[in-house]
Amino acid sequence: MEGLMQKIISLAKRRGLVFPSSEIYGGFSSSYDFGPLGVLMKNNIKKCWWDEMTKKHENIVGLDAAILMSPKVWQASGHLTAGFADELVECKKCHHRFRKDFLEKNQCPDCGGELTGPRKFNLMMKTFVGPLEDEAATSYLRAETCQGIYLNFENVLNSMRLKIPFAIAQIGKAFRNEITPKDFIYRTREFEQMELQWFCHPKEAKKYFQFWKNERIQWYLGLGIKKENLRATEVPKEERAHYAKDQIDIEYRFPFGWKEIEGIHNRGDFDLSNHSKHSGKDLQYYDEETKEKYFPYIIETSVGVERSLFAFLIDAYQEVQGGRTKTTESTKETEVLLKLNKRITPIKVVVLPLVKNKPELVKKAKEIYRLLKPCFVCQYDEVGSIGRRYRRTDEIGVPLAITVDFETLEKDDVTLRDRDTMAQERVKIKDLKDKISEFLGVC
Ligand code: GAP
Repeated sequence: MEGLMQKIISLAKRRGLVFPSSEIYGGFSSSYDFGPLGVLMKNNIKKCWWDEMTKKHENIVGLDAAILMSPKVWQASGHLTAGFADELVECKKCHHRFRKDFLEKNQCPDCGGELTGPRKFNLMMKTFVGPLEDEAATSYLRAETCQGIYLNFENVLNSMRLKIPFAIAQIGKAFRNEITPKDFIYRTREFEQMELQWFCHPKEAKKYFQFWKNERIQWYLGLGIKKENLRATEVPKEERAHYAKDQIDIEYRFPFGWKEIEGIHNRGDFDLSNHSKHSGKDLQYYDEETKEKYFPYIIETSVGVERSLFAFLIDAYQEVQGGRTKTTESTKETEVLLKLNKRITPIKVVVLPLVKNKPELVKKAKEIYRLLKPCFVCQYDEVGSIGRRYRRTDEIGVPLAITVDFETLEKDDVTLRDRDTMAQERVKIKDLKDKISEFLGVC
């Protein structure tokens, strides 16, 4: 399984998905940059999530709150206290530090040295706002995006004339000073979250908790994650986040074990009541019809963009021994097929002239590429044999390949190849846009 991780990491770097950050300076612990294909894939995942939330449902609106907030927010949210701290141990010999619950033995995994006793280590990333670096100027990079949603609960409610139940969706960066970031992009100190906060009557919280659990599982399955690699685990009381009355982790079967990719939380009235107490602003909801005044309960769904991208990559990765083509002699090579869902995959179409030494073919292929490029994320490739180019596109999960051949020049049609079935059909150039739109489900 270690082998699969290495193959994914290597593919991610080789094909422009994920690069180690600050590489020319020897790297920077746990930071990654998303390359040309990585940024496309991230944007696709975010769009799928955003559309799912704001288009499928009628009572969900968006927000983009600031990363830097008043430090009082983090007092009220409980993030500056023991609730948001991990247990840290240090090796007395090499002074390397570890998260206690990640260690299998009570011994330094690097040098075998004796470890200190555990102490609490807060995960908030501190910074200073303004020219003075003193206590009064201390602020924090947000550790979860949802706090900005709670602070704007009333602003959104009033400006959008909403009624409970409704939700606010937000995508943005979050930061945690993780003691042991690890497993490639699974656990990092800077990451992006896609969070939904569903405000409802306390009596309906249990019902919506189940509703959102099911919705979120369907989202992953709908985007191609295999059922056997996904599960929902109820988190026992003693292991829940400090704000959670109920918690379900949606877990993916990574090569390094079953691990959380998304948390579903019933946060009760923890957030709105604490922000009311600390700010002095009453954040209760008044129901005009029932004349009832109460703190809404919050059901939260929270997923990391990078973690889900990692799961999508692993799930889509396939190796085909001896090559996929059965019509010609096997290449004896192992071919990689990235069977990413067409909504998530970075590049949608590739245009290939059959050969590159025939100027009329190249000219036609470039014309088609320029015709399609404004509508679809499209690549042009003329280097190497056509078989090798198909394999290059399969490796990054391009669902459609267009081949421009000599018949194209006579009949104004091309070959359209489907990545998954390898079926090929002739399509008139004038019909290409409609055909591709229909295939991709673009409305
Ligand atoms: N607002 C709730 C919240 O933040 P969480 O379970 O701490 O809940 C939610 O985080 C999701 O954010 C996780 O399931 C994961 O996908 C992502 N996440 C959390 N910490 C992360 C880290 N250090 N690196 C990458 N993703 C992380």
